[in-house]
Amino acid sequence: MTDSCQKIGVFDSGYGGLTILRELRRRLPEYGWLYLGDNARAPYGARSFELVYEFTRQAVETLFARDCSLVILACNTASAKALRTIQQQDLPLIAPENRVLGVIRPTVEVLGDISRSGHVGLLATPGTVKSHSYRMELEKLSADMTVTEVAAPMWVPLVENGEADSPGADYFVKKYIDTLMASDPDIDTIVLGCTHYPMLLPKIRKYAPEGVTILPQGEIVADSLACYLKRHPEMECRLGKTATTEYLTTENPEKFNDIASLFMKDPVEARHICLS
Ligand code: DGL
Repeated sequence: MTDSCQKIGVFDSGYGGLTILRELRRRLPEYGWLYLGDNARAPYGARSFELVYEFTRQAVETLFARDCSLVILACNTASAKALRTIQQQDLPLIAPENRVLGVIRPTVEVLGDISRSGHVGLLATPGTVKSHSYRMELEKLSADMTVTEVAAPMWVPLVENGEADSPGADYFVKKYIDTLMASDPDIDTIVLGCTHYPMLLPKIRKYAPEGVTILPQGEIVADSLACYLKRHPEMECRLGKTATTEYLTTENPEKFNDIASLFMKDPVEARHICLS
């Protein structure tokens, strides 16, 4: 494929990155999108640093081989555990002209404009919380702000199992929000630092204290990518304006299609792929 027909790859451990893809497509509909969900090996949330890095590197190489010169790691766990190593160690060797971007930095960049108290809460997977990536990024950008990080390990399984709207989900939604707010009652902004969590938004809004801003990442990442493409015409001109979206999954495509259609509010037709 010629260089002016390159696509934008969007990678997630499973379905969650579709909440990011939805906003990316809404904001930048003219490009060709290739989504890759490693559903067969999801969730990544409690996996070791080494495995998340290995799986993410495989996904990035696969997307590069399928004409993606730009890849978004639309997964906080992968962004937290693999992005830096891929950018600094792998990219110069395997594809120096290509770029891989994550979701944590763009999210942290907007917090200074949103939080008035300077006290931010993060709900994310155990892996993202343990990495302290949000705290480290925030310290670099806004040293006077604090972030309290709480893991919500039951939220991804609830979404993956289609239980996001069920009455049973209320207990776990309330539990982690209460834990977070008890740790720092001055929190006025809660970052949903996992791409699955927007599927729980109605319940999250129900249990969050009034006046607390809930921050999903889709629009933030889409705005950030739009700015990136303006600042990098050398990358932008390589991207085809095909207005298409393709999907790859490491799981059974029929199963993926059923669940992904709910996320995208649009029919989805995925192809199967093996990562190694
Ligand atoms: N999508 C991942 C994230 O944003 C969470 C799902 C998982 O644990 O694989 O962190």
